[in-house]
Amino acid sequence: MNLYNITLYAHSYMRWAVVILGVLLIVRALTGWLGRRPWDASVGRLGSFFTISMDIQLLLGLLLYGVFSPVVRRVFDDFGAAMSDARLRFWAVEHILVMVIAVVLAHVGHVTAKRLPEEKRYRRYAIFAGLAMLAVLLAIPWPFSSADPRPLFRV
Ligand code: HEM
Repeated sequence: MNLYNITLYAHSYMRWAVVILGVLLIVRALTGWLGRRPWDASVGRLGSFFTISMDIQLLLGLLLYGVFSPVVRRVFDDFGAAMSDARLRFWAVEHILVMVIAVVLAHVGHVTAKRLPEEKRYRRYAIFAGLAMLAVLLAIPWPFSSADPRPLFRV
């Protein structure tokens, strides 16, 4: 196990923390919003955990992108050629761009929800966590993805 593998495995498994926390947050926010429930501070804590899990992924992703990934290194050997290769383009541009947008959406939702009156917070979390998770689910390399399928669980 080298540093590349350790970071890749951590990034691969942390995806499940992001997915689970994101889905839980959306469900709690939607039921609170549509059921007109009184604000529950545990949803705000869930929002914090979701945002933190995204930040950890961002950090691990930046380490892979900037330091460890041999795939990304190949991209920067010849960026022009990589752009016409769907697999390399996915890692060079699509994954990082869509995931960074997701991280920003998670943060904006969390920070602005905290400043809203309590009765408006569920809606804010539902919309922003929903958009962030849409981006995450689109940019994860699933086993059925076309660009570069990856396993659900690395062994
Ligand atoms: C924030 C949510 C993110 C999620 C859920 C996520 C998820 C994933 C997953 C599931 C993989 C495949 C791991 C495997 O092969 O087992 C992966 C690989 C990778 N991700 Fe992310 N990622 C995120 C953000 C980022 C960001 C922001 C960057 C760049 C700054 C990034 C860069 C990479 C790189 C470079 C690879 C691996 C390329 C290689 O095979 O060497 N990721 N990511």
